[in-house]
Amino acid sequence: MTKITAAITGVSGYVPDYVLTNKELETMVETNDEWIVTRTGIRERRILKGEGLGTSYMANIAVKDLLKKTNTNPEDVDLIICATSTPDMIFPATANIIGKAVGAVNAFGYDLQAACSGFLFALATGSRFIESGRYKKVIIVGGDKMSSIINYKDRTTCIIFGDGAGAVMLEPNLEGYGVLDDVLHADGTGEQFLYLKAGGSRYPATEETVAHNEHTVVQEGTTVFKFAVKGMSDVAAEVMERNNLTGDDIAWLVPHQANKRIIDATASRMNVGTDKVMLNIERYGNTTSGTIPLCLWDYESQLKKGDKIILAAFGGGFTWGAVYVKWAYDPIQN
Ligand code: UT7
Repeated sequence: MTKITAAITGVSGYVPDYVLTNKELETMVETNDEWIVTRTGIRERRILKGEGLGTSYMANIAVKDLLKKTNTNPEDVDLIICATSTPDMIFPATANIIGKAVGAVNAFGYDLQAACSGFLFALATGSRFIESGRYKKVIIVGGDKMSSIINYKDRTTCIIFGDGAGAVMLEPNLEGYGVLDDVLHADGTGEQFLYLKAGGSRYPATEETVAHNEHTVVQEGTTVFKFAVKGMSDVAAEVMERNNLTGDDIAWLVPHQANKRIIDATASRMNVGTDKVMLNIERYGNTTSGTIPLCLWDYESQLKKGDKIILAAFGGGFTWGAVYVKWAYDPIQN
């Protein structure tokens, strides 16, 4: 029997209009454009403004466009997996809110939380549903409204993160295109270095948790940086070795956009030239689950059928992983 693989058959994304520049951050915390650019590679990030707008607002726009681009009737969608660390609410799942908004009335859905590795964990998980032969259209969404959990008085975190969402369609392929391999890892000892303390079941919201700013991200940046450089390059090298790939075979590296220096280290370990590295950190910062689909969306017109690409991420948890994809379609001519 021919093996079924999960091909990415379309990609879309959305970033909010409001641009938070390094210059504006200089008026909010003790920082400067030069420090931010040299230490992170970020020049600006997008922020979702407007009362009552959550991650689903951005995801809905991305998914509606994805359905249009792939000529998909929303009623034919089987499953929506939404990777996010900033769900609209603790429950119901943001995936269900997206399903309703886009008319995917026959789809089931759920959220998956793996911080910055969320999109890759969801992509790997969604691929298994397609490979089973039972599911034909699976949407993987990665999105975060990071501005809802950032302390804009903490210069060590507020300069990094931004808001955005991206989505891909997965469909069965019998010619060997799509998600071909993945290596995923998690290590709970990372909890102490990157976390959001309150608002969950261990420390529910109280006046004290709010007063102590415990509903925002805490990060020990330098420690996370060291683990990220090692974790992301190790896992990218591992997936390449397992598939007998050298740097020359790789058309694109699609790295999680946390810090340009982590991305450069990963590319160098893979022997992949900088011209083959997808980058949009300069414009969007770190959108957590959104970074990788937003990169695919930005670079879609440069991707060709048969391109071998490696997606790689590292994030809170710690979580990290790499996915090997053979791109399934040529650029769409408008
Ligand atoms: O995506 C999820 C996973 N997260 C990551 O992968 C993030 C990993 N970490 C990082 O990207 C980096 O650690 C940061 C960008 C967060 C920080 O860069 P760093 O090179 O590790 O800086 P640092 O924390 O070691 O700080 C160096 C100096 C310190 O000053 P002193 O002690 O040397 O006087 C900081 O206080 O830079 C100072 N500093 C700043 N200065 C200006 C820290 N933040 C800022 C700032 N502006 N925003």
